Amino acid sequence: MEAEDAALPCLHLGGDTHKVPLKLFAVNRERLCSKLKEEQCPKGAVVVLQGGEQQQRYCTDTDEVFRQESYFHWTFGVLEADCFGAVEVDTGKSILFVPRLPPEYAVWMGSIHPPEHFKKKYQVDQVCYTDEISSVLESLKPSVLLTLHGLNTDSGHFSCEAHFDGISKFTVDNEFLHPRIAESRVIKSPYEIEVMRYTNKISSMAHKEVMRTVKPGMKEYELESFFQHLCYSRGGCRHVSYPCVCGSGHNSTIIYYGHAGAPNDKTIRDGDMCLFDMGGEYCCYTSDITCSFPANGKFTKDQKIIYNAVLKANRAVMAAIKPGVKWLEMHKLALQVQLEELKKCGLLHGDIEEMMKVNLGVVFFPHSIGHLIGCDVHDVGGYPEGTERPTQPGLKCLRTTRVLKEGMCLTIEPGIYFMESLLEAMLANPAQSCFVNKEVLERFWNFGGVRIEDDVVITATGCDLLTDVPRTVEEIEAWMKLGVKMVT
Ligand code: GLY
Ligand code: MN
Ligand code: MN
Repeated sequence: MEAEDAALPCLHLGGDTHKVPLKLFAVNRERLCSKLKEEQCPKGAVVVLQGGEQQQRYCTDTDEVFRQESYFHWTFGVLEADCFGAVEVDTGKSILFVPRLPPEYAVWMGSIHPPEHFKKKYQVDQVCYTDEISSVLESLKPSVLLTLHGLNTDSGHFSCEAHFDGISKFTVDNEFLHPRIAESRVIKSPYEIEVMRYTNKISSMAHKEVMRTVKPGMKEYELESFFQHLCYSRGGCRHVSYPCVCGSGHNSTIIYYGHAGAPNDKTIRDGDMCLFDMGGEYCCYTSDITCSFPANGKFTKDQKIIYNAVLKANRAVMAAIKPGVKWLEMHKLALQVQLEELKKCGLLHGDIEEMMKVNLGVVFFPHSIGHLIGCDVHDVGGYPEGTERPTQPGLKCLRTTRVLKEGMCLTIEPGIYFMESLLEAMLANPAQSCFVNKEVLERFWNFGGVRIEDDVVITATGCDLLTDVPRTVEEIEAWMKLGVKMVT
């Protein structure tokens, strides 16, 4: 942050937590309006977004912990549920609509704040109640309301389009906004990059503490709990960016381990590889970091071989990325480096190009080299309008194939896994199995997996690494040797 920005109104949880200037959201609105105007937005258009709704647990009256909808957050920074927001494109005027709360709210939930409170808190131009939305928008005499309707190319779900009583009186366009606001989210402003830097700082600290605490005999969930505690208690991260993956031994091959059916509940054993993929989230900005390390703090020869192969791929991509580089090429680079390393250790033999032609790399690395990251961990904009997801077996998992631009934030996350189902399918396919030394594969069959995942921001000449954890074998062993630090 610039020195003059330090005094700006901000969102902040006290202590050393990051001060998020409200200017971040004002700048996002400005960027959005400029983009809409550049692309022939009709004069008199007004953007209308609906914020996230407070949800209850199934049919009960137990509230879920609320997390704002990401497009709404990006535009307004508003933490509360059940709001709407509008932005007049020609003038940039911002209007927030908050719910008119009943008097009982004060008894059960605390103070009922007047609109003036939210105007100051969020630095918007006007605050009204949600039951006034129709009349307030009418007074603007909009030519058209731009609402948000579009596909999330990662989830396959559609965004939640604003809907309110009286909307049928207006001309509504629900196609123009989505691709343009998604595109605006792809490039991070300096203010956003500072929040991403902070979420990475807190998550890196928590990963490091977890790493020096792990001991054979512990349950995986003890480390999940410790990570979450550190992110929240020291960093104000109430949410994590996605459910924590704390896989040990064979669980380190399960990409989304940690779900309800496999809830990080194995006992960690001596000799296990651990693959912990965890990221704290602050003010709806995410992080996504994976650390892989031996549970007992000392790599075996084979663990070192696989770990160093993945690290080499990670660093090769990190060294290659800069504006103009194609992400698809980075995926291929990681596949190639990993195949070369598996050949060097005697697991594979033959020509690397031939292996690439039969998608052998995908057997050991079945996900993509990384993805855009921002207000969502798999951030929007991976496949903008007019671009298609590749259909080839080895490439359809890519969350983006974009050409990199300065200001994009991405993960770099190569991995090598020995997954029984994929190995068996490979062995049954002569076109692939002809490259594999079976007795060496036998040695690695129960190895588990390694992923090394870092978050970066693309700069004018390369990238800036946001993640700060021990990465080389020597750094990890030295760090784990330090053992447990008493946490206050
Ligand atoms: N943690 C989710 C991912 O790495 O994409
Ligand atoms: Mn990731
Ligand atoms: Mn991850």
